[in-house]
Amino acid sequence: MGRRVLVTGGAGFIGSHVVRAFLADGAAVSVMDNLSTGTRAHVPPEAMFHHLDITTADAATLVRESQFDVICHLAAQIDVRKSVAAPAADAQLNIGGSLNLLEAVRMSGAPTRFVFSSTGGAVYGDLVAPPTAETAPKDPQSPYGTAKLSVEYYMGYYARVHGLDTVALRYSNVYGPRQDPHGEAGVVAIFCDRLIDGSPITIFGDGRQTRDYVYAGDVARANLLAATATLPAATALDSRAFNVGTSIETDVVRLAEVLRRLSGSTSAITHAPARAGEQLRSAVAIAKSARALGWRPEVGLEDGLRLTYDWFVQRRTEVGS
Ligand SMILES: NC(=O)c1ccc[n+]([C@@H]2O[C@H](COP(=O)([O-])OP(=O)(O)OC[C@H]3O[C@@H](n4cnc5c(N)ncnc54)[C@H](O)[C@@H]3O)[C@@H](O)[C@H]2O)c1
Repeated sequence: MGRRVLVTGGAGFIGSHVVRAFLADGAAVSVMDNLSTGTRAHVPPEAMFHHLDITTADAATLVRESQFDVICHLAAQIDVRKSVAAPAADAQLNIGGSLNLLEAVRMSGAPTRFVFSSTGGAVYGDLVAPPTAETAPKDPQSPYGTAKLSVEYYMGYYARVHGLDTVALRYSNVYGPRQDPHGEAGVVAIFCDRLIDGSPITIFGDGRQTRDYVYAGDVARANLLAATATLPAATALDSRAFNVGTSIETDVVRLAEVLRRLSGSTSAITHAPARAGEQLRSAVAIAKSARALGWRPEVGLEDGLRLTYDWFVQRRTEVGS
């Protein structure tokens, strides 16, 4: 029997890729998800599904009693604007839920490796020019980024004081099949949906703001590698933190143009006023992940966008809309 792995948020976009990567690697995979944004259909039948909220005693009991080899913790509230509108609710879930799981691991006494999905897009802020290395100063601009960074600090505490085996993966902007086109995040998913409809694509501001787009399959592979890599002791916040991105900045205009070309759509590209407080440039440095995890992105932007667009087309055909 392979490793026993729990994926929280495994019914969501990135989690569903992580689940598939571990199943393909021969692991016995359990999923914990409350289906608030995820869907049961994203979970392959080979995985064991637990319909549980990460903030509850039942979730803690499952973790305490199961003694997983690996926990990939992705379940979260991911909408930055919701975190701004309701910071306490965001913290209750994103900090409180994570602490519930970390406490359960501590109480289980098992040598579980705890791989946390953090963010490279929201913890660094605008202090240094991209690509941003893990050790760059942290300056989260939102409750969402502040909560993710807080969990990283808590993981440092659990590692140093209680010997927990924790890792933080700081993703840039993730895209790929199964992303929700109706959420606030996920410009690629939103654009794909509109291109298929032939409706206009809206770009906020001049569209020269850059992001680092990484394919979800590559992010899943980073989780797989982080689950077993031999890592240094967690002596400081960044010791066990790894950026997961491409280091390449792509602006929204280029993204829209590439997708429109791949789709063959005639959708217009329109501009709306810039969004207040939006970061201008963002990309993460990945030399440390290459060195310590043996991880590099393998899917280039054009290939990844094609795979993603094709998936959205296929999904429309299946649901017949
Ligand atoms: N999408 C990105 O570009 C990106 C970038 C950086 C970090 N991340 C992080 O990656 C992780 C996955 O994000 P995603 O884009 O796949 O989002 P998603 O919304 O598709 O996935 C989140 C999953 O967690 C589940 N969930 C939410 N609250 C829960 C709760 N209380 N208990 C149990 N399950 C719960 C949802 O139902 C969903 O299946 C998140 O932690 C997110 O912060 C995402």
